[in-house]
Amino acid sequence: MMQQPIPLLQEESVPGRRAAQLPERSVPETPLPASLLRDSLNLPELDELSVVRHFTRLSHMNFSIDGQFYPLGSCTMKYNPKMNEEAASYAGFRRSHPLAPESLSQGSLALMYGLQEALQEITGFKAVSLQPAAGAHGELTGVLIIRAWHVSRGDSKRNRVLIPDSAHGTNPATCTMAGLIAETIPSDNSGGVDLNALRAACSGENAATVAGLMITNPSTLGLFERNIKEIISIVHQAGGLVYGDGANMNALVGIVRPADLGFDVMHLNLHKTFSTPHGGGGPGAGAVGVTAALAEFLPGPVATKSTEGYSFRMPSQSIGRVKAFYGNFAVLVRAYAYILRLGAAGLRRVAEYSVLNANYIRSLVQEQYPAVYGEGRWNMHEFVASPELPNDIHTLDIAKRLIDYGFHPPTIYFPLIVKEALMVEPTETESPETLEAFARALLSIAEEARENPELIKSAPHNTPVGRLDETAAARKPVLCYRG
Ligand SMILES: Cc1ncc(COP(=O)(O)O)c(C=O)c1O
Repeated sequence: MMQQPIPLLQEESVPGRRAAQLPERSVPETPLPASLLRDSLNLPELDELSVVRHFTRLSHMNFSIDGQFYPLGSCTMKYNPKMNEEAASYAGFRRSHPLAPESLSQGSLALMYGLQEALQEITGFKAVSLQPAAGAHGELTGVLIIRAWHVSRGDSKRNRVLIPDSAHGTNPATCTMAGLIAETIPSDNSGGVDLNALRAACSGENAATVAGLMITNPSTLGLFERNIKEIISIVHQAGGLVYGDGANMNALVGIVRPADLGFDVMHLNLHKTFSTPHGGGGPGAGAVGVTAALAEFLPGPVATKSTEGYSFRMPSQSIGRVKAFYGNFAVLVRAYAYILRLGAAGLRRVAEYSVLNANYIRSLVQEQYPAVYGEGRWNMHEFVASPELPNDIHTLDIAKRLIDYGFHPPTIYFPLIVKEALMVEPTETESPETLEAFARALLSIAEEARENPELIKSAPHNTPVGRLDETAAARKPVLCYRG
């Protein structure tokens, strides 16, 4: 049965009802200029409790990590521990002002310095900047660093960035924004980078124009790129640098250090791997790590430490600021709290369990939801199924029907190289019971596809609204009450 829509505040309005009582006026009445006044204002009249209940009910209409399983592939929607929130709410952090002098900001500076150091240790990079506000922002920062490095060596002909066809859309978009040319490298039959195509793009006359390669490892197919060292070496031999899209670091944290593989620069989504809240375009942090050769190109200011205490420093050849002040500071506090709480052993367990959970679901549903890539191999933290259900049932229908079962749909139709892609990333924070319940829901949808396809095609049934025109909803959202 369709969930009843929540009545508009206007419909609950009772003339004369109030949520506030103002004290008697103690100053003379002064009329406002007529130009500021309206004849009428049709505001709902309600008591405080009705307003609180209204907005609480509205908030329950949304999916959230605190409410439901949220296996959104490539997004690492893991639980956001409440301890992180407590740390971010400490008055010393909450009330610190970005314009306060360094001498009065020693605690905040120490935290930023500690986080830089921790991320350096986790990735193996020699320097980190915490400025970028999102993964895509970190990508732009990294590509600008690569460009600045080439230009600093008088090598300004290098304008091509090679990008595997499984990449996230932000990778080519970033290159274009940085004034470089995004060039697609196809995947081979196993979902890895086609080495022959890469060699061709990096050899002969082509070599002189290679600025670099942007690659996600594990790839967006959830597979570890087995040839990563060779891939990096091909690009380095051509004189290019290698950018790591670190959005999938949840599978590697505590196990593999990207700098050891040969990456030159990489962003980390602190709002994914390091458990800070995200979604809905909320604040994130796309910290960028680089090798020693690129350290002076980082955006600043970065936090440093001397015998006199902590201070900010602008790297000598910096690409400049990419964000006002010091990045999304409250996100940094949460990420640091998470890292300290887990420690090295805990972070390693994060990766191990995220991989185990993804493979567990995959094994439970693989008959009905086969993965086209990765046959006979372990997936990393996510897997991409390519369901072939009867009666013209598509991945979009499966996603909508999952909502009726109480699960947030996985990512769909990405990566683009997988037909009808259904990309599941359970994360490490889910119990076996939740994973099994989700797998049961997927299997029961496969059953429904055979026996009652209309039920799936008309899903969701238990939500206040049914299927929307998603493009119009995203581009022309109706956010205001229209009386
Ligand atoms: C592989 C990959 N790269 C980059 C990004 C961009 O990260 P952000 O959404 O923080 O900008 C994402 C986000 O989903 C991603 O999955």
